[in-house]
Amino acid sequence: MTDETQTYSDGSLRHLLTLENLSADIVGEILDRAESFLSDNERKANKVPLLLGKSVFNLFFENSTRTRTTFEIAAKRLSADVVNLDISTSSQSKGESLLDMIDNLVAMQADIFVVRHSQSEAARTIAAHVPKGIHVINAGAGSHSHPTQGLLDAFTIRHFKGGFDGLKVVIIGDILHSRVARSQIHVLKSLGVAEIRVAGPKTLVPSSISTLGVKVYDDVDKAIDGVDVITTLRIQNERMEAALVPSAQDFYLEYGLTRERLALAGAKAIVMHPGPINRDVEIASEVADGPQSVILHQVTFGIAVRMAVMSLLVDSDGGDD
Ligand code: CP
Repeated sequence: MTDETQTYSDGSLRHLLTLENLSADIVGEILDRAESFLSDNERKANKVPLLLGKSVFNLFFENSTRTRTTFEIAAKRLSADVVNLDISTSSQSKGESLLDMIDNLVAMQADIFVVRHSQSEAARTIAAHVPKGIHVINAGAGSHSHPTQGLLDAFTIRHFKGGFDGLKVVIIGDILHSRVARSQIHVLKSLGVAEIRVAGPKTLVPSSISTLGVKVYDDVDKAIDGVDVITTLRIQNERMEAALVPSAQDFYLEYGLTRERLALAGAKAIVMHPGPINRDVEIASEVADGPQSVILHQVTFGIAVRMAVMSLLVDSDGGDD
């Protein structure tokens, strides 16, 4: 199924809003491009002129450390000009609508908007509004989607596991509020991962998640048994309307990724987390810092993946409407 806002009619990418139904070809192209940028970065050939003369506007309506900073680094490595708009001091506080704000930024010659918003549809609304040739990247939309995180998660798995064939992956924690879980599931399904498991408290694992083709586990030890990749997720207290979970201490006892639980997966399993981590709540400090953790590699890979996405969008300029 094509996404008419996200892609041109020839299938090339106009905006990056979701990984749902994004073709394996486009995902593969992004991962391969990211690989080439990673090699460039390792050779310290830091800047490439692919976005020279372009302006990237970071619009973060929610807090961020990793995504916002790595988008800024990525844009600068592509030789773009970067504007980090401080939403808290913008004229939104004077009643300016989101789309009026966007029109004014377009008038300032923005080429790419990187948007994080608590409203799931905000990035898509902007994408449907902007003129052709301007691109929108969803940098985290409510509980719904976080496509560049899903892509960097896939990149990390491919990097450490060599591919996706026969892999068993588990995602543990607050699945209900997690845009990271949804985007990771979408991209891994598209890449043909055979077995994706989810586990967490019943109140934080919606029964509808099984429609995405994942196996739901009540028992976290069984969910971890024999997997190749573990992603742990923090509890998103900021998105909860009611007390849906036990205390942090009880959560750690029942679902926390301890050294003993990690041993059920085996010595070759990798441990991922999108960050920010809450030590000794969803993950034991010694596991987060341990030899199987690739959490900080995910952050580094995020730069190359975001370079790949931005350069691909600009390359597709001129695609059919
Ligand atoms: N993973 C992630 O989105 O982290 P930030 O909220 O710090 O951007």
